[in-house]
Amino acid sequence: MFIISDNFNELRKYISLWKQKKYRVGFIPTMGNLHSGHLRLIEQIKKRDVDKTIVSIFVNPRQFGPNEDYTNYPRTLEDDIKKLRDLDVDLLFCPDKDLMYPIQNAGELKIDNKILMNDLCGSNRVGHFNGVLLVVNKLFNLLQPNIVIFGQKDYQQYLIIKNMVENLFMPIELILSPIIREIDGLAMSSRNKYLNKNEREKAPKLNKSLITIKDKILQHPDKFHSILENQISELEKDGFFIDYFELRHKNNLSIVENFNYENKKYILLIAAKIGNTRLIDNIIL
Ligand code: PAF
Repeated sequence: MFIISDNFNELRKYISLWKQKKYRVGFIPTMGNLHSGHLRLIEQIKKRDVDKTIVSIFVNPRQFGPNEDYTNYPRTLEDDIKKLRDLDVDLLFCPDKDLMYPIQNAGELKIDNKILMNDLCGSNRVGHFNGVLLVVNKLFNLLQPNIVIFGQKDYQQYLIIKNMVENLFMPIELILSPIIREIDGLAMSSRNKYLNKNEREKAPKLNKSLITIKDKILQHPDKFHSILENQISELEKDGFFIDYFELRHKNNLSIVENFNYENKKYILLIAAKIGNTRLIDNIIL
């Protein structure tokens, strides 16, 4: 049976029934407009030790800045429902804004990991990660999942949520799933829809740059600063506006002073705009 719920009473009824039966619940939080990347996450979680799979679709206003695309963010609920039904998801939770945020400006718990949250994507998208943590916290409390899966494309988001789960002793296992890409290497994202033909043709250069730079850094570790600077100039000549392109420590995204390669200790991250569309991508070294 596929349950679609947009209210707490019904949702809580199912969750408490499943808890009584000691079912393990797998959860994938999304903002909808489901693409193959999301569907692969669902397939992956279903292969884990779970009895029930929940997906949420909620375009969370709190994680969008005033000049961002909250209003235009693609909303395709009917299509999404069909895809979830085909994948045998047990429950879709698709609340509206007033249910998730009933009282404007009510005192809200703020979990602030200043270094992680104000850096990289957080420095350009002020308040973004607070909005993410707020909604993820609410969803975790409501749905009480045992396992939650996040995509590596939003690696900083994953680390921030992991940090929250550990610090608040939430009994939840988090899984990081590899980036799902189009055939030409572009990381799948709902925002790819905003790209016009010309931008779409250029977009895979971000992934190609990550691969090239990874190889170059591994060959010339002492030159990683200049390698990155050169690649940023190349991308800018191609019409990209680079928000950041950085080599960071993988465990906490701290700045790398000296590169000393040990397997999978580093990550290269990029955020760039093509036209009006901001894309992110990364690769683990
Ligand atoms: O990654 C996303 O789609 C969102 O940030 C999330 C985790 C669903 C919270 O709104």
